[in-house]
Amino acid sequence: MKILVVYDSRTGNTEKMAHAVAGGVRRAGLEPVVRKVDEANVDELLQVQGLILGSPVYYGLPSAKIKAFIDESVKLHGKLEGLVGGAFCSAGGTHTGSETTIMALLEALMVHGMVVQGTSAKNHYGAASVGAPDDDDVEVCNRMGERIAKLVKKLNS
Ligand SMILES: Cc1cc2nc3c(=O)[nH]c(=O)nc-3n(C[C@H](O)[C@H](O)[C@H](O)COP(=O)(O)O)c2cc1C
Repeated sequence: MKILVVYDSRTGNTEKMAHAVAGGVRRAGLEPVVRKVDEANVDELLQVQGLILGSPVYYGLPSAKIKAFIDESVKLHGKLEGLVGGAFCSAGGTHTGSETTIMALLEALMVHGMVVQGTSAKNHYGAASVGAPDDDDVEVCNRMGERIAKLVKKLNS
């Protein structure tokens, strides 16, 4: 079972988070497939059981490149029901668009019929960092990857 992690990143912050999320997926015993959005291909979605999207916060929203990836996925509309979805982001500040960005990503995943799990622990909707992720952020990303992988296993066992 595999989980695709697709992220956009101009200055490396979201990229570091993507690798930390992937580490959590691995910790739970599943294989992460990490792709920068420029190299991502929506067709890979047919070979995975989960999709985690990561984006920098741009004007309170996901980046245009991540939105383009989502829009490209329309060709698979109806074929992604029941995949597990998740989202994370990096912002320049606190209360400056992290949650709106994550929710926008989760909304799109839900339109595909994906299953989205929140958490009662820190970062309820998905991991968010301010600037470069610190050790705490990395741990939140690890746990998020682990949580999503565990749900994938549960739903596919
Ligand atoms: C075009 C643009 C718009 C941005 N808009 C926001 C914003 O609305 N809120 C915010 O907190 N940060 C904003 N930022 C800052 C980035 O989200 C932040 O620097 C982030 O950590 C960059 O991630 P990256 O290193 O993965 O590219 C913006 C940056 C750019 C380039």
